[in-house]
Amino acid sequence: MSLQSIPRNPFFVGKPVPPEHFVGRTSEIEAAFDQIYNRSHLAIWGGPGMGKTSFLEKLSDSQTWKEKGLDPSQAVIVLLNCESISPFTPSGFWQEVLSLLKDKLDDKPTLQADITKLIEEGKTTKDSLRQILRKLGKQNRFLVLLVDDYDAALHENKQYTHDEMEQFLSECRNLAVHCRERQYLSMIVTSLKRLNELGPKLNPSKSPWYNHYLFQRLKPFNDTEIAQLLGTLRLGTLREPKIRNAIREIADGHPALLQTAGSLLYRELKTGKTPDSQAFIDDFESSTIQIFQNIWERTDEVEKTLLMLIALYHLKGRLHQKKQFDLNGIDLIFSQRERELSRLEEQAVIVHQEKEQTRMYLFTSSIMEKWVIQQVWNTDEDSLKARQKVFLNLMSHQQAEKITNTIGWLGKHKSTFKLIPQGIDVLSKLLRGLL
Ligand SMILES: Nc1ncnc2c1ncn2[C@@H]1O[C@H](COP(=O)(O)OP(=O)(O)O)[C@@H](O)[C@H]1O
Ligand SMILES: [Mg+2]
Repeated sequence: MSLQSIPRNPFFVGKPVPPEHFVGRTSEIEAAFDQIYNRSHLAIWGGPGMGKTSFLEKLSDSQTWKEKGLDPSQAVIVLLNCESISPFTPSGFWQEVLSLLKDKLDDKPTLQADITKLIEEGKTTKDSLRQILRKLGKQNRFLVLLVDDYDAALHENKQYTHDEMEQFLSECRNLAVHCRERQYLSMIVTSLKRLNELGPKLNPSKSPWYNHYLFQRLKPFNDTEIAQLLGTLRLGTLREPKIRNAIREIADGHPALLQTAGSLLYRELKTGKTPDSQAFIDDFESSTIQIFQNIWERTDEVEKTLLMLIALYHLKGRLHQKKQFDLNGIDLIFSQRERELSRLEEQAVIVHQEKEQTRMYLFTSSIMEKWVIQQVWNTDEDSLKARQKVFLNLMSHQQAEKITNTIGWLGKHKSTFKLIPQGIDVLSKLLRGLL
């Protein structure tokens, strides 16, 4: 094995991947450059850890532009994160755009001075940016505005009312579509959900505030992308495909989970430690807990309940004390809730499979599944009561009671289960064989 030839861990955990290590996403990058080229706009969405920030950083890298045969010096690329404007306000947003833009214009001191003046006047609006765009245009340049975590602009806060949000979004639309200076602007935003699921309700007399965006979802990595990412381990053995399969059980194509799994594998192989299953799960869980928590917190109560039901459904098949588990009719609930389930699929938390004309839902990551089961059996009396209300929205009284009893029973017996997520055992055996 040529692991010794990789002197440092080639995986990136807890931060965006540097552009030179960016894997895959070729068609999304292509779409982004098409939009930039036409001064049009793009909305990227994907759940936590799917690679939104990494994607924007890749687009902002001048090397990427050169690879696409474009001249990066024509564009002024500004990357900003809406979460860094806290609390989010439109004037904070315009000000941040302008001051980042100013930092990028060291070769244009007059324009810099204009921006400084606008900022000092203290009332930055979309018109301040419009003025600057016009001047940029005169110098044959244009702005590529990369806006990360746009969700922050689509939720109200104490200093950002519903009306202000509507106004802000219509100003953005105006800049992008209606004003003359639109020819000097291309805007790419990222969010956790599709824009039409966020922000204010539509006004029937106006075209939707997000109508000018092309939509692209960041999907989980496909087989080639997974192979490319894990290829940096240079296992170079016959076991590699098996290891990849085991990792798929744990991480599926989720970039953040894959990076974590890769990083742990590298460490264990490098130190020559014999990883046992439990140690690997513990390490993996402690390094990914934030991702799971993040995904969990961003789901609503119905989605949480559906995830719990999916976990229970599969747990039933894995436990022997089946008679305590009365989940009759659960399939029907899934078939009535396809909308919420497909939202969870879009977040890459679950996938579905068609089997004998019924649709089965599975967790993409076996560790996420274990995590949800832990949420189920850590449900205390009070939260179980609260959850019962959600159950009643989803199922009959009788069913709700059965499920509540099942959850209560699980909580009492949790110490008798040892849950080893799928893939972990196999992986640990394969690794022992490698050492
Ligand atoms: N295209 C990619 N190639 C390699 N690793 C990636 C890629 N996209 C994301 N990652 C990895 O996944 C994790 C999450 O990426 P990030 O861009 O922070 O996601 P998000 O902004 O959607 O939460 C990081 O560890 C990053 O290194
Ligand atoms: Mg991010």
